[in-house]
Amino acid sequence: MTDNLTAPIGVFDSGAGGISVLKRLWKLMPNENYIYFGDSANAPYGVRPVEEIRALSVAAVEKLLILGCKAIVLACNTATSAAAAELRAAHPDVPIIGLEPALKPAALSGGHPTVVVMATPLTLREEKFARLTERFLGDCTLIKLPAPELVTLVEENKMGTPELMAYLQALFAPLKGTKIDCLVLGCTHFPFAKREIKALLGADVKLFDGAVGEAKYTKVVLEERGLRAPGDNEGAIRFLSSDETKLPLLRQLFDFEL
Ligand code: DGL
Repeated sequence: MTDNLTAPIGVFDSGAGGISVLKRLWKLMPNENYIYFGDSANAPYGVRPVEEIRALSVAAVEKLLILGCKAIVLACNTATSAAAAELRAAHPDVPIIGLEPALKPAALSGGHPTVVVMATPLTLREEKFARLTERFLGDCTLIKLPAPELVTLVEENKMGTPELMAYLQALFAPLKGTKIDCLVLGCTHFPFAKREIKALLGADVKLFDGAVGEAKYTKVVLEERGLRAPGDNEGAIRFLSSDETKLPLLRQLFDFEL
């Protein structure tokens, strides 16, 4: 591992979604340098077999480490479920911070809430999710809502379009008549459709996403390991994608109001 404190933090997602995490990291630690890598050429990950997602995630993280990253933030729930354990075993000296759906704050939001978890099919069927629900959602009613096409719609920059709205309307149609208390955005692409989701579900439904928690935890880990960049000078962000046509989208989403 590099001992250069100004070395970048590597932020990885299957595509553009992890920008929702990068934004939180940047807000919290603007003096750090970052390399964001989105594997858009292979997105969506969430509909692939777990072995494939693991291999793609390992390759992406190796790439970031070769570029000299001092820590890796998995800005992807799906890659975390599929590959975090293997990545940590392969790189024991590098902090590798994973992401999971924000079930805990939803469960603690009061009463015995009905919690809808929107995520990729892989995240919802993996063992990690089963352990999380057992731990936190004992007192809640859980509704799992796989939404893989929403990943593609965000990758295609369809925010604010009738196409995105129509997809969400159809997705939520079976929940008509159910009183939803909380909605967990368990995929980093989904916060970019927050406005439309809120418009459809109404202001009473509380939305949760794991990005803020992951950014805070990354800061704690870097501090504990003595890896924070010194000084207050603003750092730099380098955007990389396996599909170079997506680079403008990455920059555009970085400026998206969340
Ligand atoms: N953004 C990813 C997540 O947080 C996955 C999207 C995909 O299926 O590629 O789960």
